[in-house]
Amino acid sequence: MRPIKFENGALRLIDQTRLPAKTIWNEYNTYTEVAGAIKDMIVRGAPAIGITAAYGAVIGANAVETEDKDVFFNKLDEIIGTLKDTRPTAVNLFWALERIRRKALEFKNSSISHIKRVITDEAIEMDKEDVDTNRLIGANGSKLLKDGSTVLTHCNAGALATCDYGTALGVIRAAHEKGRKIHVFADETRPYLQGARLTSWELKEDGIPVTLICDNMAGFFMKQGEIDACIVGADRIASNGDTANKIGTYSLAVLARENNIPFYVAAPISTIDFNILSGEDIPIEERNKREVTHIKDICIAPEGIEVRNPAFDITPNEYITAIITEKAVLYPAFKDSIGNLSGCCF
Ligand code: MRU
Repeated sequence: MRPIKFENGALRLIDQTRLPAKTIWNEYNTYTEVAGAIKDMIVRGAPAIGITAAYGAVIGANAVETEDKDVFFNKLDEIIGTLKDTRPTAVNLFWALERIRRKALEFKNSSISHIKRVITDEAIEMDKEDVDTNRLIGANGSKLLKDGSTVLTHCNAGALATCDYGTALGVIRAAHEKGRKIHVFADETRPYLQGARLTSWELKEDGIPVTLICDNMAGFFMKQGEIDACIVGADRIASNGDTANKIGTYSLAVLARENNIPFYVAAPISTIDFNILSGEDIPIEERNKREVTHIKDICIAPEGIEVRNPAFDITPNEYITAIITEKAVLYPAFKDSIGNLSGCCF
């Protein structure tokens, strides 16, 4: 299930705001339209945002008509700046755009048409790498899920949040493909309902048993002994293992610790921000209050009510049992296990 397609120089995205009712593909032909799609969460999920932005930069660069290198590189900077200025938390966005910028600079002595070709190939390569990475995360993480387990997940870290297969859901998919009976509990994930709208739909489409619960039911099921493991994705992991993920992840991790349930984070190494020491340095996006006061067009709160809407929270590393990456499953002390990775992909 691919949410992103790059065809004939244009980007096509499944409109995730319309799922699960309708599967609609939108087409984007300019980088400003692509930036709008990221901002409006037509596409969402850290790896998917990164690859979408890379294609957005390529679309923008390919439209620059000049033979002057300074003009081209100045415009490329402006394009990358616009795409970066969409969602602040997921580091994959910045990682992917920097990779495009670096590739362009590597070929700065070539013709502009050649630079356009190499950055296009780079974005396509990153898209392919993302799928391979997710399969490796799946293979590494599936060893942690026993036959007959019930696994709780939060938000959507599935195929829809990546180029295919998913990270947290990739681990579940890999265990399912190995013939293990895995039952998933999906938190609905207020306010944007990625769990209800996307995770439960994606798993149901794949025939993986899934039960949808409201976010505030997680503790009840953990206490009842009905949850064997939690597994979530990540938007940014600091070098000490502190992890930013969808709002509500921190509460789940605390509940899991209280109930002696392992709490796993599954993410590609591109989600690790080796430049920051702890979660305190991760910017948290605050979104529109309408996401809280309304469900679709129905207002569920008094008019004019004051609202806060942080889209992510930070789970301190001490609540995380392991971080599942494409290279290895990392265990505490994360400062050391993450430190051993640095330099492997930057
Ligand atoms: O606001 P969203 O839907 O982009 O948030 C997505 C998440 O928090 C995911 O868990 C995370 O990006 C990992 S996706 C593989």
